[in-house]
Amino acid sequence: MSSTLDVILEKVNILDVVSKYVNLKKRGRDFVGLCPFHSEKTPSFTVSVEKQIFYCFGCHEGGNVVNFIMKYENMDFKEAMESIAQEYGIPITKEKGRRSTSLDALGKLADYYHYSLKEAKHVMEYLAQRGIDSATVDEFKLGYSDKEKTGLKVFVKKLGVSSDLLLSTGILRMKNGEFYDMFIGRLVIPIFDVNRRVIGFGGRTLEKEGLPKYINSPESSIFSKGTTLFGIDKTRKYITEANEAIVVEGYFDFISLYRVGIKNIVATLGTSVTEAQLQKLRTYTENITLMLDGDEAGIKSSLRLINLMSQLDINGSMVVLPEGEDPDSFARKHGYEAVKRVVETKKPIMDYYFDYVMADNRLDNLEKRNIFLKSVLPHVEEIKDTIKKRLYMKRLSELTGIEEYLFWDRIKGGMGREKKIEEVSYNIIEKKIIGALLERPRMIRVFKEKGVIEHIAREEVKEVLTVLFNSFEKTGNVEVSSFISNFVREDLRNLIINSIFDAKGYEGGELDKILTDYLRHVEKKSVMEKAKMLTKRLMEAEKEKDEKLIVQLLEEKRRILAFMKAKP
Ligand code: UTP
Ligand code: MN
Repeated sequence: MSSTLDVILEKVNILDVVSKYVNLKKRGRDFVGLCPFHSEKTPSFTVSVEKQIFYCFGCHEGGNVVNFIMKYENMDFKEAMESIAQEYGIPITKEKGRRSTSLDALGKLADYYHYSLKEAKHVMEYLAQRGIDSATVDEFKLGYSDKEKTGLKVFVKKLGVSSDLLLSTGILRMKNGEFYDMFIGRLVIPIFDVNRRVIGFGGRTLEKEGLPKYINSPESSIFSKGTTLFGIDKTRKYITEANEAIVVEGYFDFISLYRVGIKNIVATLGTSVTEAQLQKLRTYTENITLMLDGDEAGIKSSLRLINLMSQLDINGSMVVLPEGEDPDSFARKHGYEAVKRVVETKKPIMDYYFDYVMADNRLDNLEKRNIFLKSVLPHVEEIKDTIKKRLYMKRLSELTGIEEYLFWDRIKGGMGREKKIEEVSYNIIEKKIIGALLERPRMIRVFKEKGVIEHIAREEVKEVLTVLFNSFEKTGNVEVSSFISNFVREDLRNLIINSIFDAKGYEGGELDKILTDYLRHVEKKSVMEKAKMLTKRLMEAEKEKDEKLIVQLLEEKRRILAFMKAKP
């Protein structure tokens, strides 16, 4: 009898599986798209139907259909195999892996909640009041965790999954020898992955002022809030069709828009969009529109997105609904056409950010101006349309008081602009580190061990830190005044004193943040350098057709990148 793997490789077309995740276009005999495993602007991710493999010429990730799912869904080989087998109705020969049994458990819990909702008149009434009829309840498989635990008890018996496994979902817990459900008394909204399998739940209180309003399934290898796109199972085809994704923040925002017929949407789980979510969406479309509240928090977090979006080559826009409305209330009150009209008023996120800064004149000190420039200038520089670019430059100049020609000079200086700005700002931080370390001597050892010195660009700072590390090593602490007397050169003494005063201006927490941020920056830099070197060696090994070395280097690279990913 042939194994599950043989059957998968024989029956499942890799194109079919991958195109669920990546927007693929035919090119010659192959299909290409943007690689989901690294950020890129032109497609180097290739699927060969003939060979039934994928390969990315950018990041050198490759393999068969099982490897793809492993990598994308963060599963081990067995789990990936089972997931594909389940999807395509291929019998699994051996005992199931833990993950797919967990998915079973979640699916069955969803069934239970859904069934309980149908029995709970008052909850159906609550939904009806929110404009949600029973067809929508079914379509989204909404549920309810009944306060009467007898239902659950009976159901657990019937579920056909071990209680051990139900407990491992983190949703059911044991209390006084009985099952206790974290969603008890709540409306339950199941969250599906692209294959329409339940990976988690959101639960809304039914009490008017109940707190917290929503809770989510605990984080696990199956479910994480920051990477989940609620509704993508239903809407990915509409998103590719429209070549635009509208992002909202709430479950009900999603449901109401979907109901009135706006379907190229996804929802985050109440947080502002993360890099992981953008990267996932980017494989479906480059046009991403945020439909958010016009409050300050939303606009501030969009600043963070400007750079991210330009790195991922995303056209990011934003629409702001009339005050007091969220997408849910707006869609229900005004309907499809009105939503369409609002979406048409979308503006590039950068415009919103500019307007916001201008309106409030928030660039009132050097540091703020520097941060603003650092985040905005690289993006402005990438605008291809020269007239548009000119206009943005002009506004930048008005906002910061820096003459426009200086920006143009920088652009002519060309190449690696973004990097240079980043370096400049880290140079400023380098100086801060001296003072911060003197305030936080217990961090000195960490800095020394992490080899920070090698990454310091400014010679003077390097010198001071070398002396600092050495004298700390000798005496186990540093006394500022005697430390300064180590230095004959006046410029170095000034540098130190300056930095000490600078550090005094910060709160304790901010100091720690400066130090940990810098450590992370250094770590990232050295990992990136390592990865770069590996890529170079990979290319050489490919030229030499040295299979063994290629495999070894790929593994090394995978380890390094996984290490990076594990960092916040
Ligand atoms: P909102 O507070 O905007 O709720 O949170 P909403 O979607 O308008 O909820 P309704 O209409 O009152 O039911 C938006 C999203 O933020 C997350 C949820 O995912 C919610 O859909 N959230 C909100 C939480 O995770 N916890 C909370 O306490 C509140
Ligand atoms: Mn709402």
